[in-house]
Amino acid sequence: MTTDLFTPIALGSLTLANRIVMAPLTRNRAGAGNAPSDLTVEYYRQRASAGLIVTEATQVSPQGVGYPGTPGIHDAEQAAAWRRVTDAVHKEGGHIFLQLWHVGRISHPSLQPEGALPVAPSAIKPDGEAVTYEGMQAYVTPRALDTKELPGIVAAYRNAAAKALSAGFDGVEVHAANGYLLDQFLRDGSNRRTDAYGGPVENRFRLVREVTQAVIDIWGADRVGARLSPINGFNSMSDSDPEATFRYAARELGRMGLVYLHVVEGASMDGSDPRRVDRASIAKDFDGLYIANGGYDKARAGASVAKGESDLVAFGKSYIANPDLVERFAQDAPLNTPDPATFYGGDHRGYTDYPSLSAA
Ligand code: PHB
Repeated sequence: MTTDLFTPIALGSLTLANRIVMAPLTRNRAGAGNAPSDLTVEYYRQRASAGLIVTEATQVSPQGVGYPGTPGIHDAEQAAAWRRVTDAVHKEGGHIFLQLWHVGRISHPSLQPEGALPVAPSAIKPDGEAVTYEGMQAYVTPRALDTKELPGIVAAYRNAAAKALSAGFDGVEVHAANGYLLDQFLRDGSNRRTDAYGGPVENRFRLVREVTQAVIDIWGADRVGARLSPINGFNSMSDSDPEATFRYAARELGRMGLVYLHVVEGASMDGSDPRRVDRASIAKDFDGLYIANGGYDKARAGASVAKGESDLVAFGKSYIANPDLVERFAQDAPLNTPDPATFYGGDHRGYTDYPSLSAA
């Protein structure tokens, strides 16, 4: 029997109905207090036939905020609002992990508590502009975190992981990708520290290790995954030896017992740049499940799973526009076209009003 996208798979103690993952997608529609709204409950409910949903990146602390209208998981009100999302997804028979996020330097004083500078491993300004409530504003040079502040960062993740548990999620994903805080520590283009958290990869990985261990202590390793993006240059990221850095990270995360590694394989998130990494180059020493991401369509995803190059495949843009993506793939039905104008922010339009096959 050949394995395809529709073959169920065990994720730790969970059984997923298929290998189609809804990728984490920032949609900037959180309501008051950075809590998910009624619309967000409906949005995830509509997509519950995915084998696994990974939520949009969700901040672990007020300092971890980098964009308007992104949700948090650091206080009780946010956890209560997320509980409505997880209940809705579970009622439809789905599974949902929350993605834990701290943006580090990809922020702006206007988004930070008391107008503070964003924090980072080193005081290196990213190129480009932050999205703020007052429009686009140039990134600022972040403040390098003091060594003695790092236990506080770990504690924020621990608190958020505990809130996610209380909110009824099936697990959590540590976001160590795409140029946010943990990735800023991992890659040497953004980490010039001279303490135990900078220099060789063992040191640059240290914060990822401590955060992941804190999360595992709350959840158990079979409910924790991590996301990595070895060659994605988004957010001014670079590393002098991505293969060495990320093979080390993958091996160590495997030793910690992580249930999956979720890899943004491309040099761009949408797969438009042909350069890629794969399981063989990054995750050879990782024994858990491998989720591939980055510009896959049904045919490429099916081939990847059939060949064992991945165990699951995550879809982003196609999930924005197709709540019933699983059904459409199963029937080889045409897909709705996503509208980039409504990706980030706005109302129900382009969020909960894409039709399913049965509605169309
Ligand atoms: C974004 O808001 O553009 C964003 C957020 C999280 C990611 C990537 C992009 O991992």
